Amino acid sequence: MAVFLLGAALLFVQPQAVPSRPAASLKAEAATQKEPFRKGDLKESVHLNGTLQRLPQTIIIGVRKGGTRALLEMLSLHPDMAAAESEVHFFDWEEHYSNGLQWYVSQMPFSYPYQITVEKTPAYFTSPKVPERVYRMNKLIRLLLILRDPTERVLSDYTQVFFNHMQKHKLYPSIEEFLVKDGELNINYKAINRSLYYFHMQNWLKYFPLDHIHIVDGDKLIKDPFPEIVKVERFLNLSPQINASNFYFNKTKGFYCLRDSGRDRCLHESKGRAHPKVDPILLEKLHGYFREPNQKFFELVGRTFDWH
Ligand SMILES: *[C@@H]1O[C@H](CO)[C@@H](O)[C@H](O)[C@H]1NC(C)=O
Ligand SMILES: *[C@@H]1O[C@H](CO)[C@@H](O)[C@H](O)[C@H]1NC(C)=O
Ligand SMILES: *[C@@H]1O[C@H](CO)[C@@H](O)[C@H](O)[C@H]1NC(C)=O
Ligand SMILES: *[C@@H]1O[C@H](CO)[C@@H](O)[C@H](O)[C@H]1NC(C)=O
Repeated sequence: MAVFLLGAALLFVQPQAVPSRPAASLKAEAATQKEPFRKGDLKESVHLNGTLQRLPQTIIIGVRKGGTRALLEMLSLHPDMAAAESEVHFFDWEEHYSNGLQWYVSQMPFSYPYQITVEKTPAYFTSPKVPERVYRMNKLIRLLLILRDPTERVLSDYTQVFFNHMQKHKLYPSIEEFLVKDGELNINYKAINRSLYYFHMQNWLKYFPLDHIHIVDGDKLIKDPFPEIVKVERFLNLSPQINASNFYFNKTKGFYCLRDSGRDRCLHESKGRAHPKVDPILLEKLHGYFREPNQKFFELVGRTFDWH
């Protein structure tokens, strides 16, 4: 396989070379690089091994603590995917965005022309400027959004920041201090705002049609990854290559690990941490608070999710 690919790549040193095997539209786009966003002189130098760095043809836009790392790792099981390893923060950080698209390209992995480049930056979903910026780069781009129960996401968001402080030997207030103000739910807590999915989704739908945004059910992906990943394969027009035996359940960890040509890997231990114990009355308030925004979200995307 590798030898064939190398040969093919050397035959067509031009990045415009269309792969000889049947290519669905997204892959054709990936291969020809004729996207409308290709502003002026983006430089792409082809390496002798036939790979090059290209703008992503799909982006995992969020949500923070939704399972974006798990999704990226699972998607990377597919040989036609090339994933940026770290979160690029191009569209949401001004100091990165001002570097321009050439800088963005330089952050991408080297890929073969038939591969789809993907990057994930969970903060994109909730950053108001990002949808328009992504649109200006490529209005045809396919977007991936992974969501989970908004209440669980709030607790996970808090837990992450709590552990970040612990690691630096810093104190961090209890979750109640963020969630409660004057005896009421503190809806100004940022983590709560990030879970108002309909609010952020509206910004994206101003620029992208719903069928260009695939929503992955993060709660399902963790419990039973394979069916969710098959849907992503289909959305990206990938050939069905990932199979059930790429996943195995690790009882000690309590969730799935990945098996990739004999190589096993589990997610970093910071994933799937236990959440803080929250007063049941407070938890019920959170569930109640999200009921209406969730309903709005379901109407917006024409689909329901099994959330509290
Ligand atoms: C191709 O070359 C690039 C640049 O040196 C390198 O980063 C990449 O790992 C190589 N890819 C393969 C598949 O050999
Ligand atoms: C959520 O935060 C944004 C700013 O990031 C703000 O414009 C919006 O009004 C907030 N939503 C609610 C319901 O508080
Ligand atoms: C699943 O995919 C792996 C490659 O990742 C392959 O070796 C294996 O034969 C496949 N299994 C089935 C049942 O298709
Ligand atoms: C399962 O998870 C435990 C705990 O993280 C780890 O030590 C072990 O290596 C894992 N086993 C397999 C087969 O992945």
